[in-house]
Amino acid sequence: MAIERTLSIIKPDAVAKNVIGQIYTRFENAGLKIVAAQYKQLTQAEAEGFYAVHKERPFFKDLVAFMISGPVMIQALEGENAVLKNRELMGATNPKEAAPGTIRADFAESIDANAVHGSDSLENAAIEIKYFFG
Ligand code: PPS
Repeated sequence: MAIERTLSIIKPDAVAKNVIGQIYTRFENAGLKIVAAQYKQLTQAEAEGFYAVHKERPFFKDLVAFMISGPVMIQALEGENAVLKNRELMGATNPKEAAPGTIRADFAESIDANAVHGSDSLENAAIEIKYFFG
């Protein structure tokens, strides 16, 4: 199986809940290494740029406002099948539909505040890692 890299963001709701360490433990227990990390407050321009693909969607403004509502923890994860593995660890976008034991089922409250982001393809992972880590 190929060694991949994927981008993960621990969103403001999960940072505020003080569960960065618990989420990192899940990555590590699944065999994913944290090979780059950055704790930061996103600017509006950075959040809008990151989510530009969603700019026509009705929730775009709310999503950007949420992502700048507090600091985030951004990391590149590396490991076998990292893109899919991270998506499995995260669970469904809507925490109410997320499988038990997933990050969103355990730490997220709503579809607006859903604890984590993860790249959805290898191609987007490369774009997203470059966006934050150059
Ligand atoms: S995904 O992750 O692409 O399968 O999900 P998608 O439904 O396309 O959602 C894209 C991102 O938008 C967020 N989202 C929302 N934010 C606020 N309000 C509502 N209703 C909403 N629906 C979806 C969702 O969490 C995705 O963000 P990321 O950061 O990519 O997980």
